[in-house]
Amino acid sequence: MPFTQPTRIAPSLLAADFARLGEEVRNVVAAGADWIHFDVMDNHYVPNLTIGPMVCEALRPHTDAPIDVHLMVEPVDAIIPQFAKAGANIITFHPEASRHVDRTLSLIKEHGCKAGLVFNPASSLHWMDHVMDKLDVVLLMSVNPGFGGQSFIPGTLAKLAMARQKIDRWQNNGGQAIALEIDGGVKVNNIAEIRAAGADTFVAGSAIFGQPDYKAVIDALRSEILKGESVSV
Ligand code: DX5
Ligand code: ZN
Repeated sequence: MPFTQPTRIAPSLLAADFARLGEEVRNVVAAGADWIHFDVMDNHYVPNLTIGPMVCEALRPHTDAPIDVHLMVEPVDAIIPQFAKAGANIITFHPEASRHVDRTLSLIKEHGCKAGLVFNPASSLHWMDHVMDKLDVVLLMSVNPGFGGQSFIPGTLAKLAMARQKIDRWQNNGGQAIALEIDGGVKVNNIAEIRAAGADTFVAGSAIFGQPDYKAVIDALRSEILKGESVSV
């Protein structure tokens, strides 16, 4: 039963106008965004540098939408309480960047946030198996992390289907809900097949912020998602 869960669009601020971030957040939420995807890069775990807890705190009053913090930083733990205090709702991290993955997931939850793991294109999903009870989100990278505007790696579709199976098995056995999020190269012309492969939460940066009419893009993404649901997998 892959398609019983709600779907969500999470615009990535990485592609927004950094000189007008508050306005961008308000506009994209008014256009129908469900979550705000907040990419944190440290020029160490990934070769780029973006925004941190102070920007999260500054944006918090601009929306009630969940702020979905994607940590591309190493080490991870020290910054988690800062993001929780800054108003983050969801915090995800790359397992390779934490010495103690189970402890980091617990730390996120102790600070009142939803927790998740992020898998790079070449990272194995096996990390999930040992911490299913602590996961609220599983995020699959469909590009190598560090930059927006890259092309979707097609092999991610098969990996999504594997993650979908693991999550469905868990939930069907009474486990908690786990969102399956996809990040990188998501566009109007490929989101249907990404949905068909099992994703329910879609990060899109350049696809949305690269266009003048955010609502038109989000509406188009949603109607393509529905097409993906009519494909039997
Ligand atoms: C990449 C980031 C993504 C990125 C997606 O490291 O995690 O969230 O902003 O951007 P697009 O949608 O342009 O590929
Ligand atoms: Zn991201």
